[in-house]
Amino acid sequence: MGADDRIRRPAGVARTGSYHDSMPAIVDPAVEAYAEAHTTAPPAHLERVATETRSMLSDPGMMVGRLEGRFLELLVFAVGATSVLEIGTFGGYSSLAMAAGLAPGGSIVTCEIDPVHAEFARRHIAASPYADRIEVVVGPALRTLPTLPGPFDLVFIDADKGSYPAYYESALERLAPRGLIVADNTLWYGRILDPGDRSVDTEALRAFNEKVASDPRVVAVQTTVRDGVTIIRRAD
Ligand SMILES: C[S@@+](CC[C@H](N)C(=O)[O-])C[C@H]1O[C@@H](n2cnc3c(N)ncnc32)[C@H](O)[C@@H]1O
Repeated sequence: MGADDRIRRPAGVARTGSYHDSMPAIVDPAVEAYAEAHTTAPPAHLERVATETRSMLSDPGMMVGRLEGRFLELLVFAVGATSVLEIGTFGGYSSLAMAAGLAPGGSIVTCEIDPVHAEFARRHIAASPYADRIEVVVGPALRTLPTLPGPFDLVFIDADKGSYPAYYESALERLAPRGLIVADNTLWYGRILDPGDRSVDTEALRAFNEKVASDPRVVAVQTTVRDGVTIIRRAD
């Protein structure tokens, strides 16, 4: 399938995350492959999302994939989450990965601006064992978030990088006392460390990382999982 056969996005909805296809991974590929091989294999419905995302959607590198998917599932499981918020659905891989870690009766709300991505994700969610656990809300997340009261046990931030500080503030307001905020791509393919890189997304992620590290309201760890995953809890 060529690029022209991929699902087309309506006019007015910007393509996002184009770095993902062209930038090298920060973790040595052999180490990443070994880690993936020693991570529990994904179920068939997740394999189908991954395969179809790669063949039908632009920028499939945006998908968290096998290793980070299991990582997210285990975080959701560890906090005993019944209420999860995701910002940035794409094809639904991370939503479906996290759903496997939900406590009984738990659910996920996932925000997506692109109706093509939302429709793709909804189709896969409907065909999965988690059809009644995941709701996809279409629209700019900054407009959707005030309509979602929470509290949330886990908030996964994985959308437009310039809005990370605003997503973080909104997530912190709605975070359960023992909840986690998890922010993806915080090492941005290593561009964070390149002083010559002054691009908008890189600067936004630098500002986000500084904000979190110096915020007395939280305790955070910057991990080197995949492209950098920052995990944050309330300090109180
Ligand atoms: C990196 S991808 C998410 C990947 C997804 N978490 C996964 O692992 O499969 C980012 C997604 O955020 C969406 N997005 C970008 N800006 C947004 C906004 N302002 N509000 C909601 N979604 C947005 C993009 O359309 C894209 O689908």
